[in-house]
Amino acid sequence: MPSKIDMAKFAKFCKDTGFIFQSSEIYGGINGFWDYGPLGVELKKNIKDAWWQDMVRNPPPGPDGQEIRMVGLDCAIIMNPQVWVASGHVGGFADPMVACKAEGCKKLSRADQQWVVMYQDLTKRKAIPKERNEAMSEVMAAITSPISAEDRSEAINAIVTEAKMMFEEAAPTFTKTITASSAQEAEELGALNKHERKLFPNLFLAGAMALLEFVKYFPVDAKCPACGEKQLTEPRAFNLMFESHAGPIASDENKVYLRPETAQGIFVNYRNVLNSTRLKLPFGIAQVGKAFRNEINPRNFTFRSREFEQMEIEFFCHPNESMKWYEYWRDLRKKWYSTLGIQSSNLVPREQGKEELAHYSIGTTDIEYMFPFSEEPQELEGVAHRGAFDLTAHANKSGKVDDLAYFDEELWNNDSQTMSTRSFKEWLKSSPTEEQIAKYKFTPHVIEPSAGADRFTLAVLTEAYTEEELVDGKGQKDTRIVMKFHPRLAPIKAAIFPLVNKDGMPELATKLYRSLKPLFNVFYDDKGAVGRRYRRQDEIGTPFCITIDGDTAKDGTVTIRERDSMQQRRVPMDEVKTAIVNALLS
Ligand code: GAP
Repeated sequence: MPSKIDMAKFAKFCKDTGFIFQSSEIYGGINGFWDYGPLGVELKKNIKDAWWQDMVRNPPPGPDGQEIRMVGLDCAIIMNPQVWVASGHVGGFADPMVACKAEGCKKLSRADQQWVVMYQDLTKRKAIPKERNEAMSEVMAAITSPISAEDRSEAINAIVTEAKMMFEEAAPTFTKTITASSAQEAEELGALNKHERKLFPNLFLAGAMALLEFVKYFPVDAKCPACGEKQLTEPRAFNLMFESHAGPIASDENKVYLRPETAQGIFVNYRNVLNSTRLKLPFGIAQVGKAFRNEINPRNFTFRSREFEQMEIEFFCHPNESMKWYEYWRDLRKKWYSTLGIQSSNLVPREQGKEELAHYSIGTTDIEYMFPFSEEPQELEGVAHRGAFDLTAHANKSGKVDDLAYFDEELWNNDSQTMSTRSFKEWLKSSPTEEQIAKYKFTPHVIEPSAGADRFTLAVLTEAYTEEELVDGKGQKDTRIVMKFHPRLAPIKAAIFPLVNKDGMPELATKLYRSLKPLFNVFYDDKGAVGRRYRRQDEIGTPFCITIDGDTAKDGTVTIRERDSMQQRRVPMDEVKTAIVNALLS
């Protein structure tokens, strides 16, 4: 793996083995929600623990060999709604939707998908004159090839003009004109709709968003994709945040949101962390936790869910050092996946082009993975240089400007020794320039490596899944399914087998099991032939099987069988622990 696989078959495998279940399955499930079974919960926990250990407690030294200072947070999922106004999520985290008015349907669908359907439909019906269609294709081609920002703006304007003419000719009910699709506006919309931009995988984001603007004025004679009726409403903004109400009254004043990312909890606690830890720049704050997005089109198993977990770091640094830290985190994060068994060839870091960047971002690299359900690599994690965007937005909205700035006390104490005053406040009265002030007091820049725990779990599962053709001792062909997890991530680290349930073997096996249980997740199995027991453990990715046999009582040795090579060796029973530890550290 990951060569192409049948995801339905894979999902069934995950269900049968206890990795992932459809949420509330007995009631027909619910789209975009998943439950982790007995093995899945261990796997995902190991992933989150590995991230916390390697990024928060023990990150490698920084670009100049310095120790990295990191602390963690665990914030509430529901926060003051002003947080989401300041972050831009309330205003912009939205997609245009159409609703079906047909009795018994009432399904929502995305307006831009409607546009695609209609465009294809009109092309098929030859309702679009050939030369218009060709012109449109040319514009499409122009915005899909790498071009300068000016050329792209021109292309966007051209596509809007083309599209307008095309639909005026093709659809007689089209009366309205396109009023809002300047390149800048399209770009801003694009940034806010980053999550769904893959709908147009080869299209420049801004171009796609210009199209998206266009559909707002589209005549609603498209068919509902669910029931086929032509009873769709005008497109309306649809916010991706789940809403609820805090308190007994469901009124607008009580409206709250389930967080769509963990990041904002970190930004609004920036001052609390600084005050309680007395950290100095540069430092990072990390959080692992649930995020919720009312995705319009959850798909590809758990890849795009409505409830998922993120593992996010906001790394605060001096603006002059931000590019150095951006490069550090980008390289470190890609390497981390490889250390956990993901082949480098399946990982694709993709630096976003300038024109793709969100409005606040100076640079973003998506770490993408070749999931077996897709021809194109898909995002596992985004490493974004967010500049001072978030702290500034919260400073402006909350009015706590001082709280969200950083004062370099050490530098001031040093420099002020030769100044007329040691008081920064006094010094400000001498009207220093903005540049002089910014030397001591400034808004830090932020580098944000933002990873998805569920997406990485899915990547680990698909990468580990292996079907092997074997030939047994009698020359018979056989297939074994083996999950080749890195030992650190494997849900169960070792299985302990008494060869037979007699001759003191169960007692010795139980003794070994009990000595390992406080240290690792181990499993005791005394049912069936040993060969079958091996297969059961291979299928769930247990790196070691340890068998206690007739010789164990005589010489104190056991057989260790290694999952991937299937090789067996005899070791003293008290070396089993070291063998497991060595594998975990590999
Ligand atoms: N704070 C930045 C942020 O949230 P993002 O690219 O929207 O950035 C970061 O999300 C990561 O969260 C993604 O790279 C992905 O791994 C994960 N993620 C986002 N939406 C998801 C979804 N609907 N289902 C599963 N994982 C998702």
